[in-house]
Amino acid sequence: MVIEPMGDEQITEAVRARYAGAARLRLREAADHAGPQDASGKTSEGACGCGDGCCGEAAKTQAIDPITTNLYDASDTPFDAALAASLGCGNPTALAQLSPGEDVLDLGSGGGLDVLLSARRIAPGGTAYGLDLTPEMLQLAERHRAEAGIENARFMLGAIERVPLPDAAVDVVISNCVINLSADKDAVLREAFRVLRPGGRFAVSDIVLLRDIPGELRAVVALWTGCISGALRDTDYVAKLTAAGFEDAGIEVTRRYDRAELEAMADQLDPTHLPAGMTLADAVQALDGAFASAFIRATKPA
Ligand SMILES: C[S@@+](CC[C@H](N)C(=O)[O-])C[C@H]1O[C@@H](n2cnc3c(N)ncnc32)[C@H](O)[C@@H]1O
Repeated sequence: MVIEPMGDEQITEAVRARYAGAARLRLREAADHAGPQDASGKTSEGACGCGDGCCGEAAKTQAIDPITTNLYDASDTPFDAALAASLGCGNPTALAQLSPGEDVLDLGSGGGLDVLLSARRIAPGGTAYGLDLTPEMLQLAERHRAEAGIENARFMLGAIERVPLPDAAVDVVISNCVINLSADKDAVLREAFRVLRPGGRFAVSDIVLLRDIPGELRAVVALWTGCISGALRDTDYVAKLTAAGFEDAGIEVTRRYDRAELEAMADQLDPTHLPAGMTLADAVQALDGAFASAFIRATKPA
């Protein structure tokens, strides 16, 4: 199969449709009080890797997803439903070192777990904002907020490329496995810089590429990790942060995806979405060690 490049609007629509499906699944499960969960509360359907509306029927297995599982200390994460619905690839709230009174923005807040965890840490006095372009995700997050009784969290509908907050509105920007999905990463980083106060912190978990790979393999990484758009090369991430005005930009790999993890995820990938002539075994071999989850840090000059 030849993978045609998508336009920005097509990417956004595909992302929205894919995460609307994941959120509807969780909302249905909540309504039924039962769902297809494994012991960790995760299924591969709707996971960051692949799922509903993206990689086809092959995605709809019950395998544990190595990208999204075991990211949070369960004893310090009292929001069970939000934890089960999380689709991140790290725990940016652990990176951000939040203090009472700070204001936080989560780009692509999904089911709201990182917003709720942040809200707890910045109380009293701080507000945690979650921004997401998928109305169904906002509905799910608001449900989780109400269940948790958290008062200092607000969820907003909108795109991370055009943040609906004024300049210098927050102390910390977090995000979890979202920026790799954006069709315009420069705009996202410019907006993060704009809404941060001087001295503010960018503390993000995301998927990165650790080495250059051919274009046709980038499309496969995108299918594997975010399904639609694709991860930045680690060095490009730092360069783009610096171009946006940030200082002290750095990347710390938290989880590498080597052969074992790729093989574990391979049954989530529809082989008909691979480039012509490429088998899953070829893709695993070519991508062994090429992408990772990482903490990405930077600071807005004081
Ligand atoms: C992989 S999920 C991660 C959700 C959440 N951060 C978490 O850790 O569970 C990606 C989320 O980002 C949202 N999203 C993707 N692209 C976006 C964009 N350009 N603007 C706003 N939200 C976006 C999706 O709707 C989805 O809820």
